[in-house]
Amino acid sequence: MAQTIAVLDFGSQFTQVIARRIRECQVYSKIYHFSTPAAQLRMEGVVGIILSGGPQSVYAQTAPHPDPAIFRLGVPVLGICYGVQLMGHFLGGKVAHSKVREYGHGHLMIKKPGKLFAKLPRRLRIWNSHGDKLTKLPPGFAATAISDNSPFAGIEDTKRGFYGIQFHPEVFHTERGVDMIRNFLVGVCRVKQDWTTKDFIAHSVAGIRAKVGKSRVILGLSGGVDSSVAAALLHKAIGRQLTCVFVDNGLLRQGERAHVEALYKRNFKIDLRVVDASKIFLSRLRGITEPEQKRRIIGRTFVQVFEKSLKSIGHADFLGQGTLYPDVIESVSIAGNPASLIKTHHNVGGLPARMKLRLIEPLRELFKDEVRHVGAALGLPREVVWRQPFPGPGLGVRVMGDITVEKLAILRNADTVLQEEMMASGHYWKVWQSFAVFLPVKTVGVFGDQRTYDYVIALRIVESIDAMTADWAKLPHALLQKISSRITNEVRGVSRVVLDISSKPPATIEWE
Ligand code: XMP
Repeated sequence: MAQTIAVLDFGSQFTQVIARRIRECQVYSKIYHFSTPAAQLRMEGVVGIILSGGPQSVYAQTAPHPDPAIFRLGVPVLGICYGVQLMGHFLGGKVAHSKVREYGHGHLMIKKPGKLFAKLPRRLRIWNSHGDKLTKLPPGFAATAISDNSPFAGIEDTKRGFYGIQFHPEVFHTERGVDMIRNFLVGVCRVKQDWTTKDFIAHSVAGIRAKVGKSRVILGLSGGVDSSVAAALLHKAIGRQLTCVFVDNGLLRQGERAHVEALYKRNFKIDLRVVDASKIFLSRLRGITEPEQKRRIIGRTFVQVFEKSLKSIGHADFLGQGTLYPDVIESVSIAGNPASLIKTHHNVGGLPARMKLRLIEPLRELFKDEVRHVGAALGLPREVVWRQPFPGPGLGVRVMGDITVEKLAILRNADTVLQEEMMASGHYWKVWQSFAVFLPVKTVGVFGDQRTYDYVIALRIVESIDAMTADWAKLPHALLQKISSRITNEVRGVSRVVLDISSKPPATIEWE
């Protein structure tokens, strides 16, 4: 059994980020409800405990408190933010209640590095988010670091292996925060750093089997990274008990459906049902020009088609989804109250409740980059694991104005040229997204000796970290020239190629 670090969750939106940082250190952790009895933690072989932050005051009537016996288990404990106040409260110190929160950047001055701050610079930028603070150390503790507003920003009781920090080491804004967590895991808890992606897969396969038993799982496969990795993982766990449904909505890129069939049906031997619903999607979209209306029609039709396909598949108990942690909490924002950002994520609307399906979301605790590693370890090709994002409404929001079969064909051909050149030059992997947009504008050109009067294709190629902001990619002129000349020469119906040089904001990445 892997050595387990228990993260007791007191309601901080960063709890999953703590778990992620522990995985980065190649150590196994499990998030527990804050009230988990100490006896259970002992039984499960916990070798170290991290007390998460939380939004409450330790004095509040509804404040979440741990089983006090966790402090007598004889295992090291690290209290983070609210966690350090719990240590103060339970171990004989004092915590002052404050109405004002200390929020945002601060500075840490390390006075006595000890094990927690070993090999770190003496001054570090840190990130705070707390109201109350420790005002008197519990017996046995010494202060190891101070911050702008606290003489007890870092504390330790080396005898018992208890450490506390007032700030958040897990967030990106704290300099060397991961090193502090690693110091606790390795230097204090003495765990081995041997928990890898392969172990994650084995662990999650066992979990899926235990949960699903002999039941059936269905999953809507889109071909994107998340649903592809979820499908591969579920398939590894339960094989033919998994049925995947791929809906061809008529708004896919060139060869996409064939690619999905080849990969999952033939290569992975997944029970894949491809539903060709392109006619119904395109007929419902006929004459529709307003982008939001397009999205609504596509979304509603998808749910209907998916639901209908389930009836023909027969009874299933679970709906598999490739929900990731950032979908669960849309953004671990530091700008406002993180709790207000929570939103549950259902790609298929109210389907699970209506169909009495239970959800199974094996990637729910992972972040995107971790999902890519899992996908690669499961044998998915690079083209899938590192594929660029593609919107659910597909080419529907890349054909401006009303959508016709003819316009879709032109866009597909132009987009194929673009993707080929982006792949061949290696730039596909370096940018966030690169795609073609169909503009229903006719302009004059010459082809051979003939005058032409044809459509315009815009190239949208952007760099971004998280799609919240984006900048147009400064690709080599020679590459742009090749893309443009190939599109105007090879794609019938296009006489002109333009480059979109707007950033987001104010423009969005997609044109509709
Ligand atoms: P925008 O256009 O808002 O796009 O800058 C940000 C990111 O989201 C993708 N996108 C969508 N994805 N359904 C989706 O699943 C949609 O309706 C949708 N609209 C935009 C877009 O491709 C980019 O990565």
